[in-house]
Amino acid sequence: MVVLVTGANGQLGQAIQSIADNYPSIDFVFCSSSELNITDLTNCETVFEKYKPNFCINAAAYTAVDKAESEPEKAFAINVTGAQNIAEVCKKHDTILLHISTDFVFDAKFVDGIAYYDRELRLPLKSEKGLTETDVPFPAGIYGLTKLQGEQAIQATYAKHFIIRTSWVYSQFANNFMKTMLRLASERDSLSVVSDQIGTPTNAVDLAEALVKMIKFCQTEPVEVFGIYNFSNEGQCSWYDFAKEIFNQNNISINLQAIPTSAYPTPAKRPAYSVLDKTKIKEVFGVQINDWKESLKTVKR
Ligand SMILES: NC(=O)c1ccc[n+]([C@@H]2O[C@H](COP(=O)([O-])OP(=O)(O)OC[C@H]3O[C@@H](n4cnc5c(N)ncnc54)[C@H](OP(=O)(O)O)[C@@H]3O)[C@@H](O)[C@H]2O)c1
Repeated sequence: MVVLVTGANGQLGQAIQSIADNYPSIDFVFCSSSELNITDLTNCETVFEKYKPNFCINAAAYTAVDKAESEPEKAFAINVTGAQNIAEVCKKHDTILLHISTDFVFDAKFVDGIAYYDRELRLPLKSEKGLTETDVPFPAGIYGLTKLQGEQAIQATYAKHFIIRTSWVYSQFANNFMKTMLRLASERDSLSVVSDQIGTPTNAVDLAEALVKMIKFCQTEPVEVFGIYNFSNEGQCSWYDFAKEIFNQNNISINLQAIPTSAYPTPAKRPAYSVLDKTKIKEVFGVQINDWKESLKTVKR
């Protein structure tokens, strides 16, 4: 069985590479952006013709959340046109697509202790465990908007897809919040981190394992379960809590200040609340999910 991974040199791509040897029955093909540029349909067709994958994990994306506000065309080309191209070649080759999306398709917040999504409509969440796959997306910025439009392009193009929404991804690989915190702690004595954005960290290796579990499920069961799935670790925290735990687990002593989002303006607005309800992925695929603090302990540094 051939599983082709796009964006192979990114954080998730590297996390999948790190577990690939544990699955000798899967023939992984890892394509970096130089071998497979997903914005180029002809390039996509050539690569799919060469490897004829049974599954494709689309881990390629434009992920610069703030920069997307000033270069929306580039974000659109990769996150929308790129996703559509991959869906089209998957359709042509009967390849099952696992496409990675984001909690940033939502813009939810807490009001009087109740979590609401969609700032304007103020609809209450369907689940106390967080945003579900059927809650209505309402992105706050260009990155989230292009990721949502990428989801919609796939849905309109090809039925045999899984869209996996994840959040706050970190690992030993590439650039991420954990590595930024560790670097800043080595340069400074004090640090301020926002405490009013609530979500859940996701260990990229846990996400990689969940994707492989979904693929293995599809090999053995009749596949009638295509659609959107949430995946993050369990629990919830603020970015401040996440930073505090990173420093605790690494025995780093630093003056850490909790600040409101208003004190740390960024070009892109972030969701105030983006905890994902994982009930569906656990029930359908039997995926077991670690608590975020426990999973953080497993990261190699
Ligand atoms: N990181 C997070 O916190 C987070 C949270 C929620 C969801 N996600 C989603 O998770 C997925 C994986 O994210 P990540 O953290 O692994 O991101 P990442 O580290 O930024 O990796 C993205 C990869 O995509 C590649 N890429 C960019 N443009 C491409 C193109 N035109 N064709 C092919 N490849 C291209 C990049 O290659 P180059 O470096 O060569 O350009 C890079 O290797 C993305 O869909 C992202 O939206 C991430």
